[in-house]
Amino acid sequence: MDRAFYITTPIYYVNASPHIGHAYTTIVADVLARYHRMSGYRTFFLTGTDEHGDKIVEAAGKAGETPQAYADRISAQFRSLYCVGCERFYMEKELTDGRCPDHQTAPEYRKESNYFFRMSKYQDWLIRHIKDHPDFIRPERYRNEALAFLREPLEDLCISRPKARLAWGIPLPFDDNYVTYVWFDALINYVTGAGYPDGDNFKIFWPVSQHLIAKDILKPHGIYWSTMLKAAAIEPYAHLNVHGYWIVDQSKMSKTVGNVVDPLTLKDKYGLDPFRYFLLRDMVFGLDSNFSEEAFVQRINSDLANDLGNLVSRIMTMALKYGEGTTPDLHASSQEDDTLPEALTKTVAEVEASFSELALHKALMSIWEFIGVVNKYIVEREPWAMAKDPSLRPRLEHIIYNLLESLRAIAVLISPFMPDSAGKIMEQIGIEDRATQDFQSIRKWGGLASGKTLKRGDALFPRVAPLKSVA
Ligand code: ME8
Ligand code: MG
Repeated sequence: MDRAFYITTPIYYVNASPHIGHAYTTIVADVLARYHRMSGYRTFFLTGTDEHGDKIVEAAGKAGETPQAYADRISAQFRSLYCVGCERFYMEKELTDGRCPDHQTAPEYRKESNYFFRMSKYQDWLIRHIKDHPDFIRPERYRNEALAFLREPLEDLCISRPKARLAWGIPLPFDDNYVTYVWFDALINYVTGAGYPDGDNFKIFWPVSQHLIAKDILKPHGIYWSTMLKAAAIEPYAHLNVHGYWIVDQSKMSKTVGNVVDPLTLKDKYGLDPFRYFLLRDMVFGLDSNFSEEAFVQRINSDLANDLGNLVSRIMTMALKYGEGTTPDLHASSQEDDTLPEALTKTVAEVEASFSELALHKALMSIWEFIGVVNKYIVEREPWAMAKDPSLRPRLEHIIYNLLESLRAIAVLISPFMPDSAGKIMEQIGIEDRATQDFQSIRKWGGLASGKTLKRGDALFPRVAPLKSVA
């Protein structure tokens, strides 16, 4: 059996349009899925929207639509992106100054009978499991946070709502008068989406399942979901990966404050690949990160236009000017010109290590270090000077080959992060079948075929006018 990889995102509420936070989670999951697919894993990527509950009914009412029409409309907005509060009961003691600790709203008092799940029965098991599997919940700060929740006795979890009050929900299979509590029906998407109980995909992918969420929903995933699985005699998921929050001007994005950053606008303005690059490069996985459009523009101009874009254009110009319009041969190796393979081997090892700890920003830093090494390789050898001496022709060809092979490696390395740009680089250096360009193909130097037609392309990342600082 091949190696397998299964990654999920939260199913997002459709009570508001997507913002960069949702985009970030979805893009990280997409990068991980692409990386594993390119490394030979059988890969399954699950995402979706969460459409039931009070919060949705309320938002639909405000919009003057039925819950179904409203959910379909907002869900479509999430689909076009790549791909009421907490919905829970609070106990008196959990409120801060009589208000919801997350949304600062005053609670409504409700009296109703409901079904409950006895989470406490699995509390000791869960503490043991988290302690025995240090990377069950990661990074470590969130594992510690989960263990901190578990220091208090777990309360029973309310898992239903009376249908008479809330019709917009999934009926409880054993009692027609109730619908499921939103977290309960939402969490099970992770197994049903993969074919639970007896689909083939479920057998293949559940044992390697990884969830990706932000810190806001650590408790439902770390505690509720883990104990639900235990109670249902389903093996625990393999990892819960928790990232931090995107904030704006050092505060939480909120509709009322009017600082919500719309991912679709940014994508249209600057392009999808630069947007992906920025989000992945500027957030340390697990920590919060402050969004600023100025910083985004700066990354485009320095990392993308200057470093990567210029390198591609420089190498293509030389390859076309000093060669026959095709990829040259790799000549006999020479110590002084063969420094790049070793640098690449180091880069690939670093990128793989970074992926295994979800440090995507570190993976990008390693790739950009390699880009710097290749730039230096050009500066030190001065191919334009060699071109003046016909006796240096074979050496020049060898150097050009090495540079084009470096571009191939860079294209493969950035593929999970910026798939479109990677494809454009491959096209320029004459690669016909992109499917052959996987991580395995850059473990050995010399994979670029000779005699393929080179095609100059447009500038990969046009420079952007710097934004005037408002301050
Ligand atoms: O909680 N920074 O849906 P939701 C980073 N339906 N990520 C953010 C973010 C931010 N500022 N804001 C949101 C729900 N996210 C439930 C989930 S799953 C069984 C049910 C991302 O629409 C992040 O992934 O409130 C966070 O965990 C998720 O959106 C919450 O999405
Ligand atoms: Mg939320």
